[in-house]
Amino acid sequence: MRLVLLGPPGAGKGTQAELIKEHFNIPHISTGDMLRAARAAKTPLGQQAEKYMEAGELVPDDIVVGIVAERLAQPDCQNGFLLDGFPRTVEQALALERTNTRVDAVISIEVPRDILVERLSGRRICRQCGRAWHVQFNPPPSLQRCQCGGELYQRSDDQPETVRQRLDVYEAQTSPLKDWYRQRGLLVAVDGNQPIEAVFADILSALGVSR
Ligand code: AP5
Ligand code: MG
Ligand code: ZN
Repeated sequence: MRLVLLGPPGAGKGTQAELIKEHFNIPHISTGDMLRAARAAKTPLGQQAEKYMEAGELVPDDIVVGIVAERLAQPDCQNGFLLDGFPRTVEQALALERTNTRVDAVISIEVPRDILVERLSGRRICRQCGRAWHVQFNPPPSLQRCQCGGELYQRSDDQPETVRQRLDVYEAQTSPLKDWYRQRGLLVAVDGNQPIEAVFADILSALGVSR
């Protein structure tokens, strides 16, 4: 399976990716996670990306295209992959096409804007395993600790101002990709405003696979 997860900030891409990668045994490639790792390691690329991410803007296409191309060339991607947060512009989608990477389906997770704001403001992430919890919708075992014992933190771009900017950027720059992939017969839209397990079940049935 060669899959792309499309959807606004907070739609549940990362949450569903955990279930999808397990089901199909494919690597989960999140450009957001890769960029945050580069920032934490203070690599030149991470330092370049930082100011865009803090402002809720997209990191320039050439940077992101480069890291994805490198990742997709790794042997573990030969039998499939799950892209999360890439492509995010038509330019990135064209760049992916140019690498002759076949995509089987693009899953668009749809969630109303007011719900997205609630999800992002209550999100807590584990420093150790990366799992995303929600203080209300998907509560961690304790307010400070993940199931794995790791410390929980709030992403710096989950502040209300930055969240609004990220949602606007999605509408302007990423949502046109829905039509772009629909025209190619690859788009599968799923209602993301349901319990996590129900969204996952809809993704599997949209892909035509049983549990
Ligand atoms: P990225 O890390 O990709 O962030 P994003 O797209 O804004 O999406 P999020 O990770 O915030 O949300 P998600 O959909 O994964 O939701 P989650 O599962 O966590 O990108 C960050 C930044 O990096 C960008 O702003 C940009 O600067 C840069 N970047 C990344 N890729 C780039 C690219 N290709 N080009 C250029 N720049 C790029 O869920 C959210 C919350 O909701 C959690 O608390 C979760 O527990 C909860 N939740 C999930 N599902 C449900 C449910 N069904 N019901 C109730 N609660 C739920
Ligand atoms: Mg995510
Ligand atoms: Zn953890």
